[in-house]
Amino acid sequence: MSIVRVKASKEYDVVIERGGIAKLGEYLSALGIKGKVAVISDSNVMPLYGEEVSDVLTYHGYEVSTYVFDAGEESKNLIEYGRILSFLAEEGFTRRDTLLALGGGVVGDLTGFVAATYMRGVHFVNLPTSLLAAIDSSVGGKTAVDLPQGKNLVGAFYQPDLVLCDTAAFRTLPYEEIKNGLGEGVKYAVLEGGRIFEILKKGLTSDTLEEFVRLSVEAKRRIVEEDEREGGSRKFLNLGHTIAHAVEILTSFAVPHGVAVAYGVKEMTKLALERGELDPKEGEEILALLSACDLDLSLDPVEDLLPHFLADKKRSGDVITLVTIEGIGKCRLTEVKCQDLAKYFGVE
Ligand SMILES: NC(=O)c1ccc[n+]([C@@H]2O[C@H](COP(=O)([O-])OP(=O)(O)OC[C@H]3O[C@@H](n4cnc5c(N)ncnc54)[C@H](O)[C@@H]3O)[C@@H](O)[C@H]2O)c1
Repeated sequence: MSIVRVKASKEYDVVIERGGIAKLGEYLSALGIKGKVAVISDSNVMPLYGEEVSDVLTYHGYEVSTYVFDAGEESKNLIEYGRILSFLAEEGFTRRDTLLALGGGVVGDLTGFVAATYMRGVHFVNLPTSLLAAIDSSVGGKTAVDLPQGKNLVGAFYQPDLVLCDTAAFRTLPYEEIKNGLGEGVKYAVLEGGRIFEILKKGLTSDTLEEFVRLSVEAKRRIVEEDEREGGSRKFLNLGHTIAHAVEILTSFAVPHGVAVAYGVKEMTKLALERGELDPKEGEEILALLSACDLDLSLDPVEDLLPHFLADKKRSGDVITLVTIEGIGKCRLTEVKCQDLAKYFGVE
């Protein structure tokens, strides 16, 4: 069992524990949480873990309600958001009550946004069940829903009271979802180097899973504590993301986010090699790591993706900040003018 304490605008623990769901009631009681708990989940995860979570909470005296929506990014919208708000009002939820997200990043982002806004904020507990949610989206307080015009366009920074990652829940994750999580893991490995890189290079196993989640959460914690609202260093977490967002737009989100991020890391590695900014040996190591994670992808070439870079939320005026790679564990923020992008990527 590992605990990572996050000291953001609110302090909270990220507990990483195989079988941790069994102790959920104790954890909530220890935080002084009482009353009603709404377990919010999707149509894949609720049938798998909903009963266990509800039973544990009921046993500890909580009044439990459950809400399920269709699995998938398509549900992360204002309509589902409104439905959950109405559900809470109908169930008589008050300010002292709690929302519990049980699922991947979609459940966490949507439930977190409801928690941030229902009665101007209620308790929020996150139980990430996908690898991506465990190592990335459940930590840092970004909550959001999508608009037809784009992803995550409506949201709030809202930190949870607790994140409980029961690694046993990963046993039911489809292989494609493990790969999806590993894509964000590769990002941390390149940003941080050291042990995370080693673990992924050797191939993630049940023996290294908890350590990998802990190291990833620690990496995210460090960055979030420094820059909770993405004014500066939090931008490092966007490694590979400009390319990833372009892939997602071009493929109408058929390529999962983490997989697209891995492709972004691959292309940024190749770019750094071409520009002579990265030692060839380290470049080869990053490319080998992607292969080890079954993420050595060949997606759309960068010249096809370039026009979509301009839709990047991280663009500020006519400048895009790219996270460029100078070594394993050594990245930098590089500002490139939009009109110079093609030249920068050597496709002009
Ligand atoms: N808030 C942030 O900082 C942040 C960071 C990165 C990504 N995100 C968001 O996260 C979302 C992607 O998250 P995701 O990849 O977890 O997607 P997801 O929530 O859609 O989960 C992926 C799939 O796995 C299923 N699943 C989850 N846990 C399972 C389990 N234990 N067993 C079987 N199936 C399971 C889900 O039902 C779904 O079908 C996107 O909406 C993205 O914008 C947010």
